[in-house]
Amino acid sequence: MKFLNAGMSRFLLRLLAAHTARSEASLPRVHSVPSRSIIDLSYSTHFMDFKGSSIPSSMKKLVVTKLSQNFKEAVSLQTAPVPTPGDGELLVRNRYVGINASDINYSAGRYDPSVAPPFDIGFEGVGDVVGLGLSASANFTVGDTVAYMNNGAFAEYTVISAKKAIPVPAARPELLTLLVSGATAHIALQRLGELKEGDTVLVTAAAGGTGQFAVQFAKMAGCHVVGTCSSDEKAGFLKTIGCDRPINYKSEDLAATLRKEYPKGVDVVYESVGGSIFDLAVNNLATRGRMLVIGFISGYQSASGLQPVRGGTLPAKLLQKSASIRGFFLPHFTADYGKSLRSMQELLAKGRLVCEVDDGERGDGGRFVGLESVYRAVEYMYAGKNLGKVVVDLQPQNKSKL
Ligand SMILES: NC(=O)c1ccc[n+]([C@@H]2O[C@H](COP(=O)([O-])OP(=O)(O)OC[C@H]3O[C@@H](n4cnc5c(N)ncnc54)[C@H](OP(=O)(O)O)[C@@H]3O)[C@@H](O)[C@H]2O)c1
Repeated sequence: MKFLNAGMSRFLLRLLAAHTARSEASLPRVHSVPSRSIIDLSYSTHFMDFKGSSIPSSMKKLVVTKLSQNFKEAVSLQTAPVPTPGDGELLVRNRYVGINASDINYSAGRYDPSVAPPFDIGFEGVGDVVGLGLSASANFTVGDTVAYMNNGAFAEYTVISAKKAIPVPAARPELLTLLVSGATAHIALQRLGELKEGDTVLVTAAAGGTGQFAVQFAKMAGCHVVGTCSSDEKAGFLKTIGCDRPINYKSEDLAATLRKEYPKGVDVVYESVGGSIFDLAVNNLATRGRMLVIGFISGYQSASGLQPVRGGTLPAKLLQKSASIRGFFLPHFTADYGKSLRSMQELLAKGRLVCEVDDGERGDGGRFVGLESVYRAVEYMYAGKNLGKVVVDLQPQNKSKL
């Protein structure tokens, strides 16, 4: 009898969700958002459970409507039905979402050239589980807090596979620093860096989302760390996280400084700027040096996505130093991901890892609050203003778990 009730309730709930979606699809725009009826599933909490919650029938989300590296032109804020989770899925009410340099690569369709707009955007979020399917209830329940890396995070609610959800004790913005930025530095250095105690490691964009972790992990490996950045404030921050030689390239000549202070070159480069910085890093590699190509942000805003580099002389330069250049792309290292996150969470819990968050407070427009401020947060990063990981708070007023 209990099973029958649960099955019926699930059917009714799907009917309600489908009806809501259909009636909203026929409306050109939803202005006021009525609350969804609360259905008491107290006897079968493993199905979608909105008990006591105030989940609306529609929500706001960012959608790529036109392929462009210009985020404002590519992405529009839309109203859409709150999605319904399937059997192995969770419906997450996002509390914080993370901004990544590659958000504009994604909006330009560079991640998957076969994809056509409209599509959802946003790589990572932290929030509360407010609904779930039957299989997902084996490991999660309504009210749990989870972090995740999944496309479509720039939305008030996101459906994710329960397999991708990482249970966390509370929705803290620091957790967002680990999911993409921290994991990239951790796995790239571990798998490709071949760090040895005493190595000199150069980190570009060192005070940013992923750079701050590259600095700390290289330091933990016993290396001497050099970090580039664009302000004295960032240089000061880099000192506090163990960077031996922060270089503010706006006030110091980067090439001359490296030549003078590191005449034998650097053993490893964690390089994410590209263009002339890539060339400079190649020129400053030590014998047997390893350059990790993490990104090339200086080109992302251009139509090609790349700044030209001096490729013609590259084979000779690498050969003369027995040096190597290695590309790294996080999605190719999923097998390392879980272990890496656990290891970073442990370091964070022990107070051994600084996870610097930039919520926009120091910028002109104030804190990044609400989906609308994702646009401003992307601009802020591309203006080189961020110190740490850029994070947007989607629901600062909502203290309730449901
Ligand atoms: N391969 C992967 O799987 C992977 C994963 C995550 C990130 N990444 C890459 O890592 C890099 C950093 O990404 P993030 O999300 O962590 O961003 P971020 O470092 O938090 O922010 C970007 C920083 O880059 C510098 N910058 C911004 N625009 C620039 C420009 N036009 N020219 C030169 N420098 C510029 C600025 O630092 P300064 O002003 O201090 O120089 C800025 O603070 C990007 O290249 C990204 O694609 C790669």
